[in-house]
Amino acid sequence: MRRIVMTMFLSLLTVVFLYAYADAKVSGICSSCHTMHNSQDGSPMTYDSSTTPNGKLLRGTCVGCHAQNTSSNIVNSIPQVYHSDATDLAAGNFSYVVTADSSGHNVQGIVTSADATLGNTPPGYNSAYDPSSTGFSTASRLVCAGSNGCHGNRDSSDEWTAVSGGHHGDDSILKYGATTFTLTGQGASVPTSYRFLYKIKGAEDSDWQDTVTATDHNEYLAETYATRGTTDSWANMKGTISELCSECHSTFHLGGTSGIGSASPWLRHPTDVVIPNSGEFASVSTTYSDETPVGRPAASLTDGLTAAIGTVTAGTDRVICLSCHRAHGSQYPDSLRYNYQSSLSTGNGCLRCHTQKDAY
Ligand code: HEC
Ligand code: HEC
Ligand code: HEC
Ligand code: HEC
Ligand code: HEC
Repeated sequence: MRRIVMTMFLSLLTVVFLYAYADAKVSGICSSCHTMHNSQDGSPMTYDSSTTPNGKLLRGTCVGCHAQNTSSNIVNSIPQVYHSDATDLAAGNFSYVVTADSSGHNVQGIVTSADATLGNTPPGYNSAYDPSSTGFSTASRLVCAGSNGCHGNRDSSDEWTAVSGGHHGDDSILKYGATTFTLTGQGASVPTSYRFLYKIKGAEDSDWQDTVTATDHNEYLAETYATRGTTDSWANMKGTISELCSECHSTFHLGGTSGIGSASPWLRHPTDVVIPNSGEFASVSTTYSDETPVGRPAASLTDGLTAAIGTVTAGTDRVICLSCHRAHGSQYPDSLRYNYQSSLSTGNGCLRCHTQKDAY
């Protein structure tokens, strides 16, 4: 017993030591986020006043902290994924999914029921191409993190274990800045992965795109898909955001006849392919737009990048899943970034890239 207590004391000391020296990410006093016993003056310390304690001695769960459903998209520096603020952050808003199933991901704890049409099954799922050791289980709901979620290391089925070390880790290499940003080392751990999406690379806008302009936004890596064997592994990942989506929606991203094909005529809409500098694409809108973001090759995400790139360059930049979709949810069916079912006007949505197709 004595030994256990001693070990615990020592590891606590180590944490405090590391915390003091590491370039910690979350800041503030410990007690704003943690509670040692979930009890103070006999009352629970959890934000929702639940007597059930949370993992990592926290005062809330992922949903409790990040999906407070208030009128603000950022609450006490905590980015909100479910809110009624007029401005959504980069991944959209789960509020649309609460209203209409097809608007995005039915994440447990935020959206009461699983998707009435899709259930818990990710369209296009192929376990051979899920790099996680556990794989996605359709026996349970989609959650924020771990094997049945998107964030953290998906080898772990426990959400806290999956994200462990993320919030206190040094993520400065993901932030714009002459002395900070570099792709080197990104993806090595959860905190050094783009938005705690294990292995994924990019550049993080410091306000999660609360303000978004052509030169103020996130950047996503897009590279030719790594050659895959018959089974996938983390080592095969190049770190593109479309690879993240394809951990669960594999066949929408893989090459070959069951996937997207390999060249025009394509079989499914290609992603991680270069926007050609020819034909209709030669006159692609050169101003970056949050309506149809593009991915960048590693060569464009150079060390010391101080700000987001404001242009789109045919022949260099690539179409990605997020050129058309929001990751969490949007006001449109299939979590699309623009209205695809009606009123596609000149220069909008699909037509930003397919410049010679007619508006309708
Ligand atoms: C703004 C909220 C916040 C504050 C303030 C905060 N923490 Fe945390 N802490 C978290 C979250 C969220 C996690 C769990 C997820 C993770 O590990 O990323 C966590 C995890 C931890 C862990 C587990 C780490 C691991 O690797 O699994 C320890 C230990 C910890 N915090 C200690 C502290 C101490 C000590 C302080 C005060 C100096 C503190 N925290 C302040 C939010 C906070
Ligand atoms: C105690 C409140 C709290 C809990 C619980 C919590 N978070 Fe966070 N989270 C925060 C705060 C605060 C930040 C913002 C940190 C910063 O300033 O960059 C954050 C940031 C994030 C980010 C964005 C990181 C970035 O690069 O900007 C992600 C993703 C995230 N959390 C996921 C999760 C997941 C998944 C869980 C559950 C396993 C979780 N959080 C639990 C408070 C919390
Ligand atoms: C951990 C697995 C997982 C990952 C990773 C994932 N999804 Fe999904 N996705 C699902 C599941 C499960 C469903 C079906 C249930 C639902 O809609 O919630 C789904 C459904 C969808 C739908 C249809 C929504 C609807 O209701 O019709 C879209 C669009 C989608 N995903 C896009 C994406 C994009 C884009 C990414 C990457 C940013 C992504 N997904 C990453 C699991 C995943
Ligand atoms: C970010 C740019 C971009 C957006 C937005 C975009 N596409 Fe594409 N699309 C491409 C690229 C790049 C190709 C592949 C071109 C090539 O190499 O042949 C492509 C290919 C296609 C093809 C296959 C053409 C062939 O030769 O086989 C169709 C059809 C298509 N897109 C329709 C759409 C529709 C419909 C939308 C809107 C829902 C859309 N695209 C949105 C960039 C885009
Ligand atoms: C060019 C725009 C575009 C791109 C790029 C794109 N999608 Fe889609 N996605 C759509 C549209 C439009 C739909 C509606 C269904 C359809 O047209 O096939 C859709 C539907 C979906 C669905 C729902 C399927 C269902 O059965 O309900 C999922 C899941 C999905 N996309 C995931 C992805 C993933 C993952 C990627 C990247 C690998 C991706 N999408 C890239 C436009 C796009």
